[in-house]
Amino acid sequence: MPSNVIVGLQWGDEGKGKITDLLSKNSDYVIRYQGGNNSGHSIHVKNRYFVLHLIPSGVIYPNVTCIVGAGVVIDPKSFIQEIKNLESIGIDVSKVFIEHRAHITMPYHLLIDQYREESLGKKAIGTTHRGIGPTYEDKIARIGIRALDLLDKKNLYKKIQYNVHLNNALITKIYKKPPLSFEEIYHEYEEYANLLYKRIIDSIYRIHRAFQEKKNLLFEGAQAMLLDINYGTYPYVTPSSTTTGGVCTGSGIPPNFLENFIGISKAYCTRVGNGPFPTEIFNQNVNNHIQKKGNEYGSTTQRIRRCGWLDLVALKYSCMINGINCLIVTKLDILSGLNVLKICVKYKIHHKIFKNFPSDMQGKKIECIFLEFPGWKEDISFIKEYDHLPKNCKNYVEYIEKYLQLKIVLISVGSERNQNIIKNNQLFNKIFS
Ligand code: IMO
Ligand code: MG
Repeated sequence: MPSNVIVGLQWGDEGKGKITDLLSKNSDYVIRYQGGNNSGHSIHVKNRYFVLHLIPSGVIYPNVTCIVGAGVVIDPKSFIQEIKNLESIGIDVSKVFIEHRAHITMPYHLLIDQYREESLGKKAIGTTHRGIGPTYEDKIARIGIRALDLLDKKNLYKKIQYNVHLNNALITKIYKKPPLSFEEIYHEYEEYANLLYKRIIDSIYRIHRAFQEKKNLLFEGAQAMLLDINYGTYPYVTPSSTTTGGVCTGSGIPPNFLENFIGISKAYCTRVGNGPFPTEIFNQNVNNHIQKKGNEYGSTTQRIRRCGWLDLVALKYSCMINGINCLIVTKLDILSGLNVLKICVKYKIHHKIFKNFPSDMQGKKIECIFLEFPGWKEDISFIKEYDHLPKNCKNYVEYIEKYLQLKIVLISVGSERNQNIIKNNQLFNKIFS
């Protein structure tokens, strides 16, 4: 098995955890390369559903070494809690490592994320309040605290002192909130350092050696393409590079390591948080159907996810930027029981028709041009063969392929590991076995 990357193609929550889980079985390394504990990847462990936020989903397989790469931002409190949760159900966590160069989320990052959102009022991004933005801001400002700083207490002390001083000015003067105690934060992080030091490694040579030894590497994306800092619906995005391009910068590998670019899309769309969502469904019956049946609640923040029809203008743009050569569609079963399904094939902006995804959606009235498809009544969640799907369901799926000029490899019809329909055997065998 060559090196694979999994990315979400919409606004997150496409089911990356389930697909990572399926691929991890045969992987030697599963590597996270961006994002932080803003993500929530649901996996099925020992008859229980488990949500992972920072630790790669491969952790449940004893054969897998998990690396949290340089492009990730790590809240040590959340990371340690996740390790404890996994240990409590008997999962071996001895092969979970943090790259030296990953940045550390600090208490002032969480507060500034929250205070800034509050101060933005109606213009708030709707972040997860996990301090992700402020952590990346300090990284780019070149004042961030990296995982390797936890290994040198003297240095850590000085860095925390400097940063708390700086951030207290922002907290007290701009946001008019009480300052943080530098001593308390240092002692808290000193304790985290004691718990984590064995896991903090220089992973780069290790990953490269693994590649030379023809080990199977899987790069697990978090968030998704339309939340990408450069190519997403800015400013309503997450502050990391969520595309397949982000794999290289976030884990220290060259592009030619990668062979399969696996993109995950729901059979419809969802979005948590604020920002443009052209195909959003305002019909309460349809919205309720998808939201309830699809259990569309944020797995990190428990917020209700906004639901929309499948947007092929956006999906085509996502596949293009990510170089997707393996498309997986999830949650097709959720659409069973709707009379009519819609797919957006073009946008209309100020009376002009667009097939391309616009670079700016702010303040624009985006109308969707939909094609309508007759729905199907049957429960498809136990179907295993593509040919056994209802005719209308196949029409819906095949239109997606035709529009995107891309073969769908796998269709997920439920959260269980075996609730899948293989649509393209050849590609499936190449990637999954
Ligand atoms: P997974 O990996 C869905 C959204 C937030 C908000 C925006 C910015 O589970 O697919 P942030 O806290 O990152 O600064 O918030 O991004 N967001 C997600 N939405 N799934 C996620 O991750 C998300 N991670 C961030 O709701 O709109
Ligand atoms: Mg999520």
